Formats: sequence, structure tokens, C-alpha cells
Amino acid sequence: MTTPFRTLVRERRSYRSFLPEPLDDVTLHETLADASWAPSNCNTQPWEVHIVSGAARDRLVAALLEAEETSPPNPDFSFDAAAYTGALGDRRHAQGAAYHEALGVERKDYKKRRSVSVQNLHFFGAPHAAFLFLPQVGDSVRVASDVGMFAQTFLLALAARGLAGVPQTTLGMFADTVRRELGISAESKLLFGISFGRPDTSAAAYRYRSTREPVETLVRMHTQ
Ligand SMILES: Cc1cc2nc3c(=O)[nH]c(=O)nc-3n(C[C@H](O)[C@H](O)[C@H](O)COP(=O)(O)O)c2cc1C
Repeated sequence: MTTPFRTLVRERRSYRSFLPEPLDDVTLHETLADASWAPSNCNTQPWEVHIVSGAARDRLVAALLEAEETSPPNPDFSFDAAAYTGALGDRRHAQGAAYHEALGVERKDYKKRRSVSVQNLHFFGAPHAAFLFLPQVGDSVRVASDVGMFAQTFLLALAARGLAGVPQTTLGMFADTVRRELGISAESKLLFGISFGRPDTSAAAYRYRSTREPVETLVRMHTQ
């Protein structure tokens, strides 16, 4: 693991196509051990991480696809795309347009767009998915930010090994289904999931690369 930080942080990206072979147990354990060094409020480490692989993964994919066909979403935390307005809305639209273009999907081809979107619930073909739960503490914002710290550390730990993951709010859309399938209590709330494994570098999705605003746009310096 000698990748310089600058390269690592820029090479990490949300891959949306994976090879089916699972990671070996040692790699999986070491990557999670690295992620556990994420900071958290008062070192409470409130993340509750559930990972599915093998038959448990396949069962959960089937259950999520069935839920998507038969019931309305029931996320523990709302996600309203329309609430992203102004610059945030512009960036959201630009991201969707660039991704669909990389896949060769026309903007108005709603059928294809839907099948691209459903790939979320197939974990984009990844052999593993992590589901990040949190305990109920106050209004949840502090614990959710801790879980975000864990998630990014995990994603970087994967990238450092030439592996990849994609964080997915979509995997939190059927929270009751995930809880039921994994035997998790209703008190644990699902923030999002991360599909992960070895990226399939031959896939069309691999060509897509997101952009970033310049620091000057995102950060305001106060000096006096
Ligand atoms: C909390 C969170 C939730 C996300 N949810 C999804 C999702 O449901 N589906 C998806 O394809 N990408 C999802 N993404 C990935 C973002 O689209 C991606 O991080 C962003 O476009 C920047 O691209 P990059 O990760 O390749 O740098 C999510 C990212 C984060 C941090």
C-alpha cells in the first residue's frame, strides 16, 4: 500500500460494474479494520455494519428486486431529489447526464434509464454489499456524519488495494426488507449501502468519471 494519498484520493471513484469473484476473507477483514480507524464524535464508533456475500447476497438482491416491484420505498431517512435546487440541482443533473452519456443511454429513453437504475439493486454485479446502520441518537445527524466518515475511509481502504466500491442511497430505499432479510432490529436505522469488490475495467460504466468544482467555489476563506 504505497499509493501516494494525492493519487489515491483522486483515483477512488464510484465504480458501477464489478467482477463476480468475492474478495478473500483476509483482504475483507483488513479493509474493514482500516475503515474502523475513521474518526467519530467522542470516539463512539456508532456504525453498525452488515456485509452480505454469497447466498445471503443473492437472497437480498432477490428480496430487494421484489420489494421494488411490489411496494413503495420505505427509507429510514428521506431522499427528495427535487429538494436539491440551484447549484446543487445543476450538479445533480450534470452527474446523471454524464453517466448516462458514458453508457450510451439517451436522455429520453426512460426504459433504459430505469434498467440502469435497477442495477443499483443488483449491487452493480458486486460480490459484496455493506449496509451501514446507525443507532437512534437524538436527531441522528451526528451519528450519520460518523457513519459517513466510516464510509469514506472504507472506500479509500478499498481503493488503496486496487478494489472499488460505490456508496448507494438507493440501497436504503427498502429498509424494512433489508432488516427482515438480515434479522436486524427496527431500532437500527439504515443510512445507505456500499456495493464493493473488484472493478470490471472493461465495462462502459468504467469510462465515466465525475468532476469537481474548484476549491475557490466550495471554500470561503475568512481571514480578518
Ligand atoms: C451517500 C452517497 C449516496 C450515493 N448514492 C448513490 C446511488 O444510490 N446510486 C449511485 O449510482 N451512486 C450513488 N452515489 C455516488 C455518487 O453519485 C458519486 O459519489 C458522485 O457522483 C461523485 O462521483 P465519484 O464517487 O465517482 O467521485 C452516492 C454517493 C454518496 C456519497
